[in-house]
Amino acid sequence: MNLSKYISTPTFTPIIKAVEKTKSESYIIGGFVRDLLLNNNTPKDIDIVTLGSGIKLAKEIAKNLPDNPPVKVYKNFGTALIRSNSLDIECVGARKESYRKDSRKPIVENGTLEDDQNRRDFTINALAISLNPKNFGELIDPFKGLRDLDNKIIKTPLNPDLTYSDDPLRMMRAIRFSCQLNFIIEEESLKSISKNSERIKIVSKERITDELNKIILSAQAKTGFELLLKTGLLNNFFPEMVALKGIDIKNNIGHKDNFYHTLEVLENISKNTSNLWLRWAAILHDIAKPNTKKFEKKVGWTFHGHEFLGSKLVPKIFKQLKLPLNEKMKYVQKLVLLHLRPIALAKDVVTDSAIRRLLFDAGDHIEDLMMLCEADITSKNEKKVIQYLNNFKKVRRKLKDVEERDQIRNFQPPISGEEIMRTFNLPPCKEIGVLKKSIKEAILEGEIKNNYKEAHKFMLIKAKKLNLL
Ligand code: CTP
Repeated sequence: MNLSKYISTPTFTPIIKAVEKTKSESYIIGGFVRDLLLNNNTPKDIDIVTLGSGIKLAKEIAKNLPDNPPVKVYKNFGTALIRSNSLDIECVGARKESYRKDSRKPIVENGTLEDDQNRRDFTINALAISLNPKNFGELIDPFKGLRDLDNKIIKTPLNPDLTYSDDPLRMMRAIRFSCQLNFIIEEESLKSISKNSERIKIVSKERITDELNKIILSAQAKTGFELLLKTGLLNNFFPEMVALKGIDIKNNIGHKDNFYHTLEVLENISKNTSNLWLRWAAILHDIAKPNTKKFEKKVGWTFHGHEFLGSKLVPKIFKQLKLPLNEKMKYVQKLVLLHLRPIALAKDVVTDSAIRRLLFDAGDHIEDLMMLCEADITSKNEKKVIQYLNNFKKVRRKLKDVEERDQIRNFQPPISGEEIMRTFNLPPCKEIGVLKKSIKEAILEGEIKNNYKEAHKFMLIKAKKLNLL
């Protein structure tokens, strides 16, 4: 197959010129070729493998680029990276050794193109296109990557045990590519992942989580987690999720399998959002169910306080997975904590104050919280689903009404601490907090309106009671 028309474009001119000048046999390889053949073509990174020096070739390419970008050299790996505009070009010398992007071990032996293709992760990532005058544009495919692309199969070029032991992260990559591309992992490969799953422990958490997030953001996240569970990988880095699995039965009463329930919630929410953190909230919303599970004679299985304990577990899990410990984590924590609140508001008689409190607690994330709650409906009973969804419609209407009247969502206290200090001539002290809190409570309870005038009047009355006047 000749693909020259796809690479006879201005993007490739600086590369082709550099190959001619250095007279080094070179090929485009990896993700770019795979995506080109899959018609996913927004070129992002271009990987070039050369039978000469990757560093020399990169320097030559950089010279031909209009913005003259710097070349970052990784001497130990014999690779060089050019960051030009929105495109990364990475050049590497062909090697016999395994392709170990993140290993600290230096590359020892130079190899042929086939050696290099052989040591890559999957046949679909080992496809190469020639940049050389003798066979420009020709697809070099010694491991039948094209056939595997057609058949939608993830397969390693070598014995999978060897490919995965070269870099155990590839076990996660196999699942990630199968989710992103909707491909099947070839049977031997899958067996090998199950056999070697423990080896994932030698890989850094950052790299694992990077792949996990890609799985979560794919359209097949549910299948991805099922594979992570089935192969044993998940238990090595996220055992809390594995603990959700299983059903206990007592007095003929069982509860639902919370692992599968969680995956359904994730699947439901993924139809409506590609916000990674909202998807994480779905994954973690019931994470404390195993820790709070009890069997009570009168009511059966209960999970009292799982939302509270779950929100406490979020920082621990984020830390363990090296996810960011910033406002993203707090957002997930908040959604986990509040995920049972909206349904309690579906009752016929609900006070405005309960609605105001939820608006206050959820703030700008109220819409995301509602999405999570709707995704949490996983009943198989159509009638029940319709009834629950109608209940949520009712809650949404109530939220809208109260918000229009009271604007609680972005609540800013109408009286500041400074004003309290000035009015009563107070130094910083606990009474300020007491007054502020009582004003907030009075607004949420509906005793006063959310405005300065009423809050000020209320503050004076309250201050009198506290002997501040
Ligand atoms: N590669 C590998 N083993 C790894 C990582 C990468 O063999 N653990 C090889 C594959 O040939 C891959 C290429 O390096 O195609 C580039 O890697 P990377 O940029 O991580 O992946 P892409 O295939 O480009 O895909 P994506 O950009 O979607 O991650």
